[in-house]
Amino acid sequence: MSLYAIGDLHLHYATDRCPQSQRKDRAWRNHEEKFRKNCQAMLTPEDVLVLAGDHSWGKNLEECEPDFQYIRELPGRKILTRGNHDMFWDVKKTQALNERFAGELTFLQGGFAAYGEYALAATKGYTFEGPFYLDRRGRIVGWDEKEEEHAKKLVERETGRLRVSLEAARDAGFRKIVIFLHYPPTNILEEESVFTRLAEEFGAEQVIYAHSHGESRFHDSIQGEFHGVNYRLVSGDFLKWKPVKILD
Ligand SMILES: [Fe+2]
Ligand SMILES: [Fe+2]
Repeated sequence: MSLYAIGDLHLHYATDRCPQSQRKDRAWRNHEEKFRKNCQAMLTPEDVLVLAGDHSWGKNLEECEPDFQYIRELPGRKILTRGNHDMFWDVKKTQALNERFAGELTFLQGGFAAYGEYALAATKGYTFEGPFYLDRRGRIVGWDEKEEEHAKKLVERETGRLRVSLEAARDAGFRKIVIFLHYPPTNILEEESVFTRLAEEFGAEQVIYAHSHGESRFHDSIQGEFHGVNYRLVSGDFLKWKPVKILD
């Protein structure tokens, strides 16, 4: 049994909401088919596949249904975490989603799932992407204070949720932890963040994140070892639609 991860499938079997930028990008051409074939070649039915947010462009369950059907048919046990584009998934609806898809898909948000001796803790996270505006050379040319206030609130809410998950895992006796975020743990101006400090405080071995699409965004945040934690970007186009092995 192995644990794999990938994020940002951005499926759109039942909606035309998929933006032109995705339709025209070579990295996304036929990506559903590429990913399905890679999963079939790499995963066994005993494996676990974590999909780290941004599953579908559908805005409600009805519009997402063919996308869920595609995910259901992938090999292994599927655990879905929440991304910023998952309009079908209000946090309060997590339990209802798990009841509706019982035995088929697991929706993990603000809690943890056990994987052997590991606890998998998941929440969407948040990074300040908009309060500052950069020129082409990465120099700050503007700052939106209102947006900064809003972003601070979202970061606070998400770190609160992550702390609750990590404490629940610790209270249940788990000492080994992998954290799944959708947003990168830091923005392009930060070296560390409340999320990296939480990962260190709870001794997480790995922090897995997605959301960064396109070559220009792949290095927005930490990759590799930082303060004893291993950070890995798993957005689908970055991985060329091959799920990455997280744990044996
Ligand atoms: Fe995305
Ligand atoms: Fe995203």
